[in-house]
Amino acid sequence: MIRTQVVLRVNGRDHEVWVRNDRTLLDVLHDDLGMPDVRYGCAEGVCGTCTVLMDDDPVSACAVYAVQAEGHEIVTLRGWSDPQEEAHPLQKCFLERGASQCGFCTPGMLLTAATLAERNPDASREEIRHELVGNLCRCTGYQAIVDAVEDYLHLSTPPSPEKEDAQ
Ligand code: FES
Ligand code: FES
Repeated sequence: MIRTQVVLRVNGRDHEVWVRNDRTLLDVLHDDLGMPDVRYGCAEGVCGTCTVLMDDDPVSACAVYAVQAEGHEIVTLRGWSDPQEEAHPLQKCFLERGASQCGFCTPGMLLTAATLAERNPDASREEIRHELVGNLCRCTGYQAIVDAVEDYLHLSTPPSPEKEDAQ
């Protein structure tokens, strides 16, 4: 199998690696670059466990060849929220709602939900559910996750004057 030298920009750092052309971005991030926050689930583009941001879009790293990721800005959970720093407010909402149990799906959930919050800060519960449809969770039953994302949206979006008047 042909190997190619690529430079992957991950969490603000360039990594020069030789990769077989059939290796996915998930293979290289997790196995070669030792990033445990990018996780193997189905490895078939179905579960969302391996979600990373590629140029600010959530993508399944198992569905992208590593060679395709060259020239793009990749952000993993640890790049989005440094574990040495205070938890991100969205992570705090997850903790408060018990939206993370075994935690296996949580990196992907957080990155997808954070993108939703940036792009659609007024998202309804229905829209939150729709956005998270590609991120599967075996533990929580989803209710707590949707609650947590909703809490975070309310934190980031002050109520409109009309809504305040109506209260
Ligand atoms: S491991 Fe990538 S979508 Fe399931
Ligand atoms: S918290 Fe266990 S899979 Fe989601």
